[in-house]
Amino acid sequence: MKRYEQLAELLANDIRSGKFPAGTRLPSVRTIVRQHEVSPSTVFQAYYRLENLGLVRARERSGYFVTSTGGAALPEPETASAPRLSPAVDINSLVFSVLEATQDRDILPLGSAFASPKLFPLKRLAKSLASTARFIDPWETVASLAPGHWPLRQQIALRYLAMGMPQPPEHIVITNGAIEALNLCLSAVAGPGDVVAIESPGFYAAAQALERLKMKALEIPIHPKRGIDLGALAQAIEQHSVKACWFMTNFQNPMGTTMSDADKQALVALLEQHQIPLIEDDVYGELYFGARPPLPAKAYDRAGLVMHCSSFSKSLAPGYRIGWVAPGRFGKKIEQLKLMTTLSASVPAQVALADYLQNGGYDKHLRKLRYTLESQLSQMSEAIRRYFPENVRVTKPSGGYFLWVEFSENVDTLALHQLAAQEGISITPGPIFSASRQYRNSIRLNYGAPWNDDCEAGMRLLGQLILSLEGKSR
Ligand SMILES: Cc1ncc(COP(=O)(O)O)c(C=O)c1O
Repeated sequence: MKRYEQLAELLANDIRSGKFPAGTRLPSVRTIVRQHEVSPSTVFQAYYRLENLGLVRARERSGYFVTSTGGAALPEPETASAPRLSPAVDINSLVFSVLEATQDRDILPLGSAFASPKLFPLKRLAKSLASTARFIDPWETVASLAPGHWPLRQQIALRYLAMGMPQPPEHIVITNGAIEALNLCLSAVAGPGDVVAIESPGFYAAAQALERLKMKALEIPIHPKRGIDLGALAQAIEQHSVKACWFMTNFQNPMGTTMSDADKQALVALLEQHQIPLIEDDVYGELYFGARPPLPAKAYDRAGLVMHCSSFSKSLAPGYRIGWVAPGRFGKKIEQLKLMTTLSASVPAQVALADYLQNGGYDKHLRKLRYTLESQLSQMSEAIRRYFPENVRVTKPSGGYFLWVEFSENVDTLALHQLAAQEGISITPGPIFSASRQYRNSIRLNYGAPWNDDCEAGMRLLGQLILSLEGKSR
């Protein structure tokens, strides 16, 4: 065995034995050189080997991090459901009753829709807020009505440019969070009685919007590995007069799945062929774990049919409530709807964010946030392996902060949600992600909180509750 192979074996054993748990950083090359009296190139070769084994991952300028402790890979869910039409959506009351349980600060927030506020640069943002608020031009409060504060729209346009998908700042409309952007887009292209294709399982706010606006929900299955099932969508478009689609192509909520570039292109082409607008929700797009950001479907849109919605809520400033839409051909309509409803987003928040984006080190913050979330994903996956039944199936997100966990048929996750809440743990049961209340044996877990003993204990307890519902114990 060569020297680097021996070293890799040694370190792999340390990882498997728990000396270096998931999410931790391996000792620096210099430390290993000293400890084992080897050359730096031997250490690098050993680390490359560990990387090939899927045990560690290199992070730019930060070293090597343990991503897995080497157990068998957790099995992933494999199958998707079939398309379903719900002529009258009735999901609101269930969503509210479930989400109530996530709002208590003392509860372990595995059911939350947000990452921990500890992960955001709130002090630096406050500095931007304080320094800019004192100098806001009085005319700004009038000039920044819809479509929004010009310097902020310019900063957002620069970020699109950096991704290689230019969007002119003149087109961007600032909104009160992505949720307003998504709802405005929906109202711009569909009305009561229209059929709108949404994901299944999918973000509950889409079904809630359809319920509020008395539209019909056509649930299109999400494949756990590939995202939107394009075959099912094509079939559904043949059978129904689909007025619009509301989809996530990156780090889908709740499954965490990202579509391939080829599938995104095929999706845009299919919708263009039928002239169906796409409302694209990309709020987790900045939270990628790979080397480059995944492009949204909007990057392939030549016909102006894609409305790309995002916000700073998931990556920077949840409470500022600033989102936007790059609206394609529907900009004027969306702007008018905004003027008719909420008029504008908060001016001080927009001015502060424009300042932060220009001077505050957003990209540096994002790099750190991505690393933190990826480590937390490793730790949660390990906890699932340790404490959950052996037959669970778990998705493998490459960004965002949600995991989708599927149990055997006899686990009722609405009951699990009640039991867990009594123990101080929130989870999100599967049925709230479906207009027709499917997915009773699945849950969404949030790994957006720094891993600590409470998370470990909470996952252990959750595992026991799941086993008790399965009629087993471990
Ligand atoms: C998929 C998805 N889209 C949109 C939103 C809402 O974003 P915002 O807080 O910017 O309104 C959320 C928040 O939970 C989300 O998970």
